[in-house]
Amino acid sequence: MVETARADATVVRARRNRTSDMGKDKLRKFRENETFRCMIQPATSEVLDCDHPLKGKWGSDFFGNDKPIVLELGCGKGDYTIDLAERNPSCNYIGVDIKGARLWKGAKYAEEHGLGNVAFLRTRIEFIESLFAPGEVAEIWITFADPQIGREKKRLTAPLFMNRYRNFLKSGGIVHLKTDSRYLHEYSRAMAEQNGLEILASAVDIYGADRERLYESGLSSLCGRDAVDALFEVQTFYESQYLAQGFPITYLSFVADHEGDYLSPEWDEDRWKDENHHFVIPSGLPVASKFYPGQ
Ligand SMILES: C[S@@+](CC[C@H](N)C(=O)[O-])C[C@H]1O[C@@H](n2cnc3c(N)ncnc32)[C@H](O)[C@@H]1O
Repeated sequence: MVETARADATVVRARRNRTSDMGKDKLRKFRENETFRCMIQPATSEVLDCDHPLKGKWGSDFFGNDKPIVLELGCGKGDYTIDLAERNPSCNYIGVDIKGARLWKGAKYAEEHGLGNVAFLRTRIEFIESLFAPGEVAEIWITFADPQIGREKKRLTAPLFMNRYRNFLKSGGIVHLKTDSRYLHEYSRAMAEQNGLEILASAVDIYGADRERLYESGLSSLCGRDAVDALFEVQTFYESQYLAQGFPITYLSFVADHEGDYLSPEWDEDRWKDENHHFVIPSGLPVASKFYPGQ
């Protein structure tokens, strides 16, 4: 009995130490984040119902050039931000996430490798309109976002968010969505179709898709072969975990141009209720009649 109690106490102590080590590591990263030039951490008072000083001035005041700006929303450790920035020095890349300890990894890399075309923005995506001016952003990447099942208002490709993005995307601006969630993929495609958006590429299993056909797609003609290559060659932190579990990875891109507010697609939540959202298409869901490269 005494032995068991002692063993239990040891486990609790070890757990507590691990937790406090994790806490210390986060604090160290937060402190280091303060020293990174590429890391912007707006106070709530700078973005809540007001414009941040960098809004409309990322080119002139931060990057010092007028190259196109590409965002990665919910970037986590910034895997796409970093990789795309290294592949394509002719664009500026900004990774956006609320979690400082995750952003630290990408920011540290950008600092150590002198990547002048990278910034990380620690903020809630809900504040994004306070940070970018009309026409300031050319493309958005959404990588492995939470599908927010049953919570459309929190979904990053829902009309609520699309209406925000529209306020700062250039005409012809592009949204890329890479996700393990078939639910999020199908919802986003339905949203694009509902609003008559031009779909550039769509694949329900990107690693099984034909790269040559994607080179011939609208994605390649608008974003270059590099964007296609990045789909196959860059794996985010979350993506590698989903791949290890055998989940197919989906991809969708579309041109966001739209007159007026975006509308929600017809979307039957109940159909998905009992399914594994990673890869099952609920029975009875109409199969898209159009052909999309890579499908
Ligand atoms: C599932 S993770 C994916 C991270 C990364 N893209 C990857 O693939 O490894 C989702 C990320 O989105 C961020 N996120 C979710 N909602 C957010 C919001 N409203 N504002 C800012 N970041 C958010 C989370 O902090 C998290 O890092």
